[in-house]
Amino acid sequence: TAKMQWSLILLCLMAQCCFMDCQLYQFHYINENKTWTEAQQYCREKHTDLVTVTNMKDMKRLINISAGEMKETWIGLYDQTYGNRTWYWSLPGVEFNESESNWDPGEPTDRGNPISENCGFLNTNLEWGDTGCKPLRYFLCYDATDETNKYHLIKEKKSWQEAQSYCREKHTDLISGTKQIEDEEVKNLKITAYFGLFRDTWRWSDGSNSSFRHWNDELSNVKYNSGQCAMTVFDDEGRWKNESCDERKPFICYDDNIILIKENKTWEDALSYCRHHYHDLVTITNLDKLRLIEEKAKKASTLFIWMGLRYNRLTDMWFWICKEMISYKSRTSEGQMNDCGMSGAMEAKGQHRWFQRNDTEELNFICFKN
Ligand SMILES: *[C@@H]1O[C@H](CO)[C@@H](O)[C@H](O)[C@H]1NC(C)=O
Ligand SMILES: *[C@@H]1O[C@H](CO)[C@@H](O)[C@H](O)[C@H]1NC(C)=O
Ligand SMILES: *[C@@H]1O[C@H](CO)[C@@H](O)[C@H](O)[C@H]1NC(C)=O
Ligand SMILES: *[C@@H]1O[C@H](CO)[C@@H](O)[C@H](O)[C@H]1NC(C)=O
Ligand SMILES: *[C@@H]1O[C@H](CO)[C@@H](O)[C@H](O)[C@H]1NC(C)=O
Ligand SMILES: *[C@@H]1O[C@H](CO)[C@@H](O)[C@H](O)[C@H]1NC(C)=O
Ligand SMILES: *[C@@H]1O[C@H](CO)[C@@H](O)[C@H](O)[C@H]1NC(C)=O
Ligand SMILES: *[C@@H]1O[C@H](CO)[C@@H](O)[C@H](O)[C@H]1NC(C)=O
Repeated sequence: TAKMQWSLILLCLMAQCCFMDCQLYQFHYINENKTWTEAQQYCREKHTDLVTVTNMKDMKRLINISAGEMKETWIGLYDQTYGNRTWYWSLPGVEFNESESNWDPGEPTDRGNPISENCGFLNTNLEWGDTGCKPLRYFLCYDATDETNKYHLIKEKKSWQEAQSYCREKHTDLISGTKQIEDEEVKNLKITAYFGLFRDTWRWSDGSNSSFRHWNDELSNVKYNSGQCAMTVFDDEGRWKNESCDERKPFICYDDNIILIKENKTWEDALSYCRHHYHDLVTITNLDKLRLIEEKAKKASTLFIWMGLRYNRLTDMWFWICKEMISYKSRTSEGQMNDCGMSGAMEAKGQHRWFQRNDTEELNFICFKN
């Protein structure tokens, strides 16, 4: 729909802006030795939860902050599933959707014992198969920054895990999701190679579905891992290591920086409230943030919530409010947002569509804490 496109265009345009000063999460390093379960309890009491890492940027931020004498810490990833696996895409933010899968007839076969075929490969006919993660194969990388050459077939044989590391280092990630796989560029490759599909048994403490994994090359992803938890190892570029959850380690908690204010205010009063008590009215600059905000919005007492989205009549442009910068969006051709004295609001429930609302309406709103 027009509304949906509109919000996606904004997201894409704004992806570069106000990112550094609008981090989603605040990390807290706790230098006390606790079992993973004790650590989880501590984080839930004093902060939000044990840390969830959703992408490489967060991972870099996590290890960049000086951890003092801490060499390795628990993160929120654990395994108590007794072998229940879930399919994911390697590229963070791309969700696996079973009804869009394109398995070769008969696949996934999941041969071997007890559970072994946890990685995906693409056949010459672009149909999918499951396979072990250890065999060395060619693989397909995706590059988000290269407009003309988005897909790279790497003719070096690597394990799935090594292939993932290679793609993340040299490009963006292993090719992920049906949209990428169905690209013309890929159709012409006609090759059998690893792609971004994998399944595992790990879960996040806060219930997040994040598919981001940053394992060292030793985790074979073929065994049951129940009773194990993940820690990040600082002198190994933060790569994750599996460890018995009963070991005592320091750990990292997080707070999210996004707060729903359940007071009814006009847009301008909402803006000054956020700037006075926190940092700013919230801006939406990526999909992770969009999801988090939609989650918060559900608890609002008004039908809509204000965001830091504003309309300028003179220039006929929508822009995000951000203390440090001005950003823009060219005129809206269609859709709900093209009037004056108006600001952008999100539906609190349902599909969370975006609408223009009269500034003088009194709505709940979401502030960003720095
Ligand atoms: C935690 O345990 C490690 C290894 O036993 C030890 O070196 C470190 O000093 C302990 N940290 C604290 C804060 O007790
Ligand atoms: C790492 O920390 C330094 C100094 O605190 C900072 O200048 C730099 O931007 C940080 N890099 C990342 C990726 O967060
Ligand atoms: C594993 O999956 C089965 C079937 O979906 C479910 O009944 C069971 O509760 C799951 N077990 C765990 C530990 O998640
Ligand atoms: C999964 O894909 C189907 C078919 O394209 C689509 O109708 C459905 O909305 C998708 N589900 C989700 C959760 O995106
Ligand atoms: C995780 O995924 C399930 C099923 O796809 C969905 O119902 C659930 O809302 C998701 N949870 C979060 C926190 O995104
Ligand atoms: C970690 O995983 C590896 C391979 O999957 C396994 O051999 C090892 O025993 C695990 N470590 C612990 C502490 O369970
Ligand atoms: C805000 O408005 C909603 C809907 O009109 C109402 O249900 C709610 O009680 C109001 N909240 C406050 C704090 O006044
Ligand atoms: C917004 O609402 C106020 C008060 O109801 C009204 O005076 C004003 O004309 C409205 N503005 C627009 C652009 O509709």
